[in-house]
Amino acid sequence: MKTMNHKNNDNFFWTWTTQRHAARLSVTGSHDCYFRTSGGHHVLDAISTNFQVAFGHSCAPIKQAIHEQLDAMPVANPKHQFELKNRVSKRLCAFVDAGPGRIFYTLSGAEAVENALKMARQITGRNLVMARTKSYHGASMGAMSVTGDWRGQGHFGVQDATLKIPEPFEDPDLSLTRHIIESSGANNIAAMCLETISGMNGVIIPDAAWWRGIEALCHEFKILLIIDEVSCGFGRTGKNLAMHHYGIKPDFVCMAKAISGGYIPFGALWVKEGSAQFYADNMLSSGLTAYAHPLGLAAADAVLDLLNNAGFQSAKVALTGEFSAGLFDLKRHPRVKAIRNVGLMAAIDLKNNANDPPKMTWEHGLEHGIHFAIKENSIILAPPFVMTSKDNQLLFHALEKILGGGHLT
Ligand SMILES: Cc1ncc(COP(=O)(O)O)c(C=O)c1O
Repeated sequence: MKTMNHKNNDNFFWTWTTQRHAARLSVTGSHDCYFRTSGGHHVLDAISTNFQVAFGHSCAPIKQAIHEQLDAMPVANPKHQFELKNRVSKRLCAFVDAGPGRIFYTLSGAEAVENALKMARQITGRNLVMARTKSYHGASMGAMSVTGDWRGQGHFGVQDATLKIPEPFEDPDLSLTRHIIESSGANNIAAMCLETISGMNGVIIPDAAWWRGIEALCHEFKILLIIDEVSCGFGRTGKNLAMHHYGIKPDFVCMAKAISGGYIPFGALWVKEGSAQFYADNMLSSGLTAYAHPLGLAAADAVLDLLNNAGFQSAKVALTGEFSAGLFDLKRHPRVKAIRNVGLMAAIDLKNNANDPPKMTWEHGLEHGIHFAIKENSIILAPPFVMTSKDNQLLFHALEKILGGGHLT
């Protein structure tokens, strides 16, 4: 399967790469949990494309909801009120389950983060935002500024308004984080912006004590808490939102990706009613042309139905068990250093061979018919919730082959 593109004359940009060396996979279609390549292969989408295709590529209820909405009313003005908008907003607030709140709609995760940052600054009158190093929050200016990984190191962000805090394992009792707050002046800090469980940055799962400490610091210093559930939300970790594992009660929750199964660009920002009330008499200086887009709302409505469906949930629980069992077996592989797993999300850290350090790439997966992500020396998996047992077996069979014969470069 040829993926490297050394002579790039395409009339579009490839993201997060130099154009000359953009890796690519030529596809002609997708179905169930697979992409069909132009060479006629079927590649298992073990990363749900980019975490968003949680319900697979052939999800009839999402497709039907979009089709029906396309006929009923494909577009609406942000000032329009309609039943679907009322219903989905109510359902999303219940789904977040963190007390009274309301929804600001977006088309992406970055915009959800961006609007949370804007609101937190406006509500508190403070400018600084605290964020983790191993984090990604989106590619717009504000979201990129609070992004800790290499993608936030570009020249377009407003990093001087960001305070980087250590990773949970580096600061388990949060004394370093407290020091950062005290030395920067709590009165200057509007918010903390944190992924509940980081996905692409290595499935880092903070313990409950760390999260309790974060909430206590926010409470003590009146810092608003922005939770980013863009990757880990919507059933990915086994709960509706990852924050439900910890009982976190945030001020903002950013959602996107699986909110629409990825079938249509859509996102949502939940804002706690106490903060939302700020805008009762203050101007909300934010909006977008496709705000509360009916097709996105229809897709989200179908996604919420699926996550409430007992049959769907029990099949998902069974798959989660099979997925975890596969990971458990893989732990014994000599090339595996550690595995972190929660629900249908996992990072497999690979060992560095002293003589010839292995460098696993995306292409190694494709050569064996699976599509995963690579972060440094880890394989990241986030398969669709609708994988069959056979798909799961295929995934682990391929992983064993890749690890067994992985190219050492
Ligand atoms: C945790 C997290 N937040 C925000 C984003 C940005 O979302 P989008 O690409 O939809 O703007 C991403 C995207 O990967 C993400 O993983």
